[in-house]
Amino acid sequence: MCGIIGYVGKSEAVPILLDGLERLEYRGYDSAGVAVVSPSNTLQVVKTKGRLSVLREHLDAQDPLCGTIGIGHTRWATHGEPNDTNAHPHVGSDGKIAVVHNGIIENYLEIRASLERKGIPFHSETDTEVIAQLLEYYYKKLGNIMNAVYAVLGRIEGAYAMGILCEDFPGQMIAARKDAPLLIGYGEDGNFIASDVTALLAHTRTVTYMEDGEVAVLTGDSVQIYDRERSPITKERHTVDWDVSAAEKGGYAHFMLKEIMEQGEAVRKTISPRIKDGRIFIEELAGMEGYLEGLRKICIVACGSAFHVGMVGKYVLERLLRIPVDAYLASEFRYSEPLLGDDTLVIVISQSGETLDSMAALREAKKRGSKVLSIVNVVGSSIARESDITLYTWAGPEIAVATTKAYTTQMALLILLGVYCADMNGRISEEEYKTILADFLALPEKVDEVLKNIEAYQKAASRYFNQNSVFYIGRNLDYALGLEGSLKLKEISYIHSESYAAGELKHGTISLIEPGTLVISLATYAPLLEKTRSNIVEVRARGADVIVVATEETAPAVKDQADELLVIPNTHRLLQPVLAVIPLQLFAYYVALNRGCDIDKPRNLAKSVTVE
Ligand code: AGP
Repeated sequence: MCGIIGYVGKSEAVPILLDGLERLEYRGYDSAGVAVVSPSNTLQVVKTKGRLSVLREHLDAQDPLCGTIGIGHTRWATHGEPNDTNAHPHVGSDGKIAVVHNGIIENYLEIRASLERKGIPFHSETDTEVIAQLLEYYYKKLGNIMNAVYAVLGRIEGAYAMGILCEDFPGQMIAARKDAPLLIGYGEDGNFIASDVTALLAHTRTVTYMEDGEVAVLTGDSVQIYDRERSPITKERHTVDWDVSAAEKGGYAHFMLKEIMEQGEAVRKTISPRIKDGRIFIEELAGMEGYLEGLRKICIVACGSAFHVGMVGKYVLERLLRIPVDAYLASEFRYSEPLLGDDTLVIVISQSGETLDSMAALREAKKRGSKVLSIVNVVGSSIARESDITLYTWAGPEIAVATTKAYTTQMALLILLGVYCADMNGRISEEEYKTILADFLALPEKVDEVLKNIEAYQKAASRYFNQNSVFYIGRNLDYALGLEGSLKLKEISYIHSESYAAGELKHGTISLIEPGTLVISLATYAPLLEKTRSNIVEVRARGADVIVVATEETAPAVKDQADELLVIPNTHRLLQPVLAVIPLQLFAYYVALNRGCDIDKPRNLAKSVTVE
């Protein structure tokens, strides 16, 4: 996600800002910028697409940006392509106020429309520019910058961590946060704001963590924090004893663990903005009702974990839409002379948006007359740019090679798309529609509930980290899920593993089951629970140890067959995989940890496979 740094004090701001942004580079970004208020009280902004080196080149090529107060930002694009205009800081039309922002303003379109009706021009595609323009609008109307800030915070909805400068108050930096991290740093010769402590460690280890609804006003020698009622408050100062490496991971041992733990927030950011007033709202599909109603087939095409999302999607979308839905490996699809056409939608799923096989499959699909809808995490990536429609997951940058939060947000978004289309085609009752939407909105909290059960996953991993081979079995959605569980284990622990449709074992593979073999059985799909239970009994009869992943509903029927039982909360049957994958991710993580593997950078693997 985006990175924020702000400084006010006695030293020149730009070098401090650039140093801080460099320390935030690990978070992933596609553009960067800085704003300072000069000694003559003029707001100056320089921002560029690309790496920090591009920003430095721009700064070196012009008169030095002088000033002892400034804000800086590295942008991970969510709304609007990566380019100079969409980069932060954003300024209001009068150029008096600059803002850097991390988060998503969910009602930015309606605010933008109301300001445009007032004749206020917008220049970018971002949600953040709405904050800058609204601040300037209220500042002109109310005549006081703090009144303007509180008026804006009362109007915007969504998540924000923001830094604000106003050239009429040259020695003052304002910060505000809600649902996105922001901290204050107390330095020897000035004070700071930052989205994470990594950006500050070179200057201070004394910090205050802002909480939701708080606003802070910083000068070179003072910090005043206000609560959401605008009452001044005193907050505890903490001393950070992390080293930079630990700080980059937010205190977690690995990026993978950090990203697993971020899944509740990632799912919320991806789903919540697309549900308004009890209806699903996918603006990217506006006006395509006729096309979607005429669909006769869907092909989901991807690689690796994204393909496994497609396998879940096959079961879910066929159940919802009652048309043929198939999942294809992109590397196979592209050479299989697929039967496509204008009544077939091809859905390409890709975290990076750069996977060569998936890109080639996309081009093959378009060549054969199909529209392509892509589900992508990287805004402006190649697959996004060549798709007819792109739905972005807003999981934020995923640094670990083994995907986790991108997988769960892709799956949640694909299921949301299925429900949206089913509703449009009249294939879902109003009652089921309301039920599944309620479960969608409750999903982030349930993800966090599953994540709390960490000791159970650690215990199972400590018992079975020395296996030579592991089998994942399940039926229907559980089978599709087992594919991802198996890949996670292979990728990071280097243990051989296979995923099998539980009903298929007896057709050969069960010959490999012997005393001590570990079988992980997904038993969350209630309609086939008895069949799955029989399969568990079969492998146990041959000496296997069995870890069972079950829901609160299915656990009672299978707990007597489990050597380790991992229970997750119930949710709508079609959403259950979003929760059930988490124990599999964490089991794989702790097995790899016990085996001393390089979890974030497994051998032979790349985060984005841009070769055939
Ligand atoms: C997942 O853990 C792997 N790193 C890999 O299978 C990945 O899912 C696959 O390469 C597809 O990548 P993409 O989503 O960026 O297209």
